Amino acid sequence: MGKIDNVFSERNFLWGSGTAAYQCEGGWDADKKGTGEWDYFNHNSALNVNSQDGDDASDFFHRYKEDIDLMAEGNQNTYRFSISWARVVPNGTGEVNQGGIDYYNDMINYCLEKNIEPNVTLFHYDLPLELAKQGGWLNRNITDAFNEYAQVCFEAFGDRVKLWSTINEPRYYSYCTNMVGNYPPNRHQDVQSYFQYQYNLMLASAKAITSFRKMNIDGMIGIVHDNGNVELDPDTENKEEIFKIADFFYNRMILVPALEGKLPDELEEMKEKFKFMIFHEDGDKELFEKGKGDYLGLNLYNRQYVKHWESGETEVFHNNKGAQSKSKEGIRLEGLFESSFDKNVKRNQWGREVNPRIMYTALIEIKERYSDPLIMITENGHGIYETPDKDDYVIDNERIEIFEQFLKYMLQAKEAGVNVKGYYHWSTMDLYSWINGYEKRYGLVRVDFENDFKRTPKKSYYWFKDYIEHYNEEINNN
Ligand code: BG6
Repeated sequence: MGKIDNVFSERNFLWGSGTAAYQCEGGWDADKKGTGEWDYFNHNSALNVNSQDGDDASDFFHRYKEDIDLMAEGNQNTYRFSISWARVVPNGTGEVNQGGIDYYNDMINYCLEKNIEPNVTLFHYDLPLELAKQGGWLNRNITDAFNEYAQVCFEAFGDRVKLWSTINEPRYYSYCTNMVGNYPPNRHQDVQSYFQYQYNLMLASAKAITSFRKMNIDGMIGIVHDNGNVELDPDTENKEEIFKIADFFYNRMILVPALEGKLPDELEEMKEKFKFMIFHEDGDKELFEKGKGDYLGLNLYNRQYVKHWESGETEVFHNNKGAQSKSKEGIRLEGLFESSFDKNVKRNQWGREVNPRIMYTALIEIKERYSDPLIMITENGHGIYETPDKDDYVIDNERIEIFEQFLKYMLQAKEAGVNVKGYYHWSTMDLYSWINGYEKRYGLVRVDFENDFKRTPKKSYYWFKDYIEHYNEEINNN
């Protein structure tokens, strides 16, 4: 029995929270870190609409001990974070930066000292600039560069890290970079790149998973998908057809390779519908076969509620201005389908649905359609504007209410037989919310960005702490 089994057998459930390197670390050029695509974009592009950057972010780079202490005091037993590729391999390939390795070693060791199981994501949107300049994820060579970087990480940290994921949300990342155009390199409504990206990301993931197994790392590895379970507006015509098309658009290029080790059977048909092609090479099929994950990480915020397309050209709606904008989140794909707006479902200030029931529906759907995989909820949370009281304390009742509902539905799904083994609240502390900047807050712990990054746990932090304690008590008493 490998030590990976202990990760689960020694705990009732994995309860924790998560962050991503660019969003929380700061230290953007510290200790010989290479420049990242996001550094470059935020420093130079007019499309950085809120004029903010992750140069200092939440200063986790310097304060990780304080944050890990808070996790442990909050009864959390696991922490999901990502490694900055450019901190470890500054140019994306080639020379390894010992400063970066040392930093992650210290941080991982501190997690273990506090009995916090580290869960490492290798890529969470922050591409080294040198690779971005060579075409980024459209250049197939990047799949080898990623594999090389992954091997460096397995070698350096694989003796202690047991939980791994290759890539965070390949689908949503591709959507923002190629369809919305709000993430660098800012392509708009580029369906061809949207699908080619997903293909290359999944291929890179498959190569890294193959290396992980060859290197005999005692752990498990998977990929993290942004949940987009499709639900149809009752007015939808050709329901079966629209479901299939939307499901392909939102899920299948990720879930099928991740869980079945192949490309979706409907790929050829969908190439015709969406009018794209895939550049591929002989041997890719075998790579996908070997690159199936051990589990699925699911970031669960919302569903995709759609209907058949009625009229108008392709359009993408997004809202990176929060309360300053009335825009909702959605898409209209000419001749295919469009997002529908369900009046009965609440939306957050950034125009996205808030619908905790989805947690149950999505988990059951994945269990039934994809042979009952092991699942971890790798993100779930609620972004809001927040005002602290005079002691810097945030009474985030709205977050707690929604949080409680999401957890209720997750445990119901578990009860119904879904093999869900972990939950990570997004996010550990307030951090940089990509193009939404710092005012969209997700943290269990407040960060005062104006006042030396002071940390103050919010009401939700204490609520989660009690929730975990009660959960453990109940399990231990039964
Ligand atoms: C997920 C990402 O898509 O959603 C996180 O993995 C992100 O990195 C989170 O921060 C919330 O999205 P946003 O845009 O509100 O920060």
